[in-house]
Amino acid sequence: MGRVFITRRVPGDAAATLVAAGHDVDIWPGDLPPSTEALAGHLAGADAAMTMVTDRVDASLLAASPGLKVIANVAVGYDNVDPAVASAAGVWLTNTPGVLAETTADYAFALLMAAARQVVASDRDTRAGGWKAWSPTAFLGVDVHHATLGIVGLGEIGQAMARRAAGFAMKVLYTGRNRHPEREKALNVEWRTLPDLLAESDFISLHTSLNAESRHLIGAPQLAAMKGSAILVNTSRGQVVDQDALVAALNGGWIAGAALDVTDPEPLPLTHPLYSTPNVIITPHIASASLDTRSRMAAMAASNVIAVLDGRAPPNPVNRPLRPRTSR
Ligand code: DGY
Repeated sequence: MGRVFITRRVPGDAAATLVAAGHDVDIWPGDLPPSTEALAGHLAGADAAMTMVTDRVDASLLAASPGLKVIANVAVGYDNVDPAVASAAGVWLTNTPGVLAETTADYAFALLMAAARQVVASDRDTRAGGWKAWSPTAFLGVDVHHATLGIVGLGEIGQAMARRAAGFAMKVLYTGRNRHPEREKALNVEWRTLPDLLAESDFISLHTSLNAESRHLIGAPQLAAMKGSAILVNTSRGQVVDQDALVAALNGGWIAGAALDVTDPEPLPLTHPLYSTPNVIITPHIASASLDTRSRMAAMAASNVIAVLDGRAPPNPVNRPLRPRTSR
């Protein structure tokens, strides 16, 4: 039996599954994440944690939680925990690959469509009484069908995005750290260098993980290289885009619009200039937020916890601790 701290209420059966496996479950009751102090307090007595992208777990927190054997992130991204730090502490770090790709791509495509066709702006205007008569010129958008989509990062989510784009007869380009000849063939996508992709694409959708290489991958030079009519969609991590440069690009008309499900920081303070920048859609990091997918993510995290507390390697490891912690 182990003590499992879950840092937020999660949908689905994950907590019940842990209890059925014989574990004690402590669920943070708040709608907001625990403070660093509260997290430390709960982790100090835990054998396992199910964490969210909002929970930063660092070396000092791990040192102060000697019984902790696994951090099961309820996310595919894990930029809130450094895998090397977890390994050095003897703690497994796990994530939820695969289960959220289709749902996240659905949302990225929804953002792309919404930005292209002014769905959010026209809804706001209608509610404010702006709909006086059918107009031949109001809210003219750009076509998605037959346009060119540039995908940055052809991983699971990027590939799911390419499949959606095929239904809209889009030309699909991709770039990333590696070329994938078999994916190019299967998905009918073409490789480009980042500068070429930026110059050719009508829509650019970011699907890279956050790492030293991808931080501010899209900065002023990259935004300047895009078409004036381009729309940038970001469902990856806010830090992949240099937000000051994005504000300048939108205000200066270097690009036509942006749809962001992720920002830097999160939540984006209401005073941030992005809110008063034209043609921006901002949503609160919800690309994977369907009931089924979030339930599956939590279930996957629970199965990682159960494996480690049973003394087995977890099914979805991000790291491999040299000397995994076994007992308190
Ligand atoms: C992830 O899984 O990394 C998402 O950003 C959170 O759903």
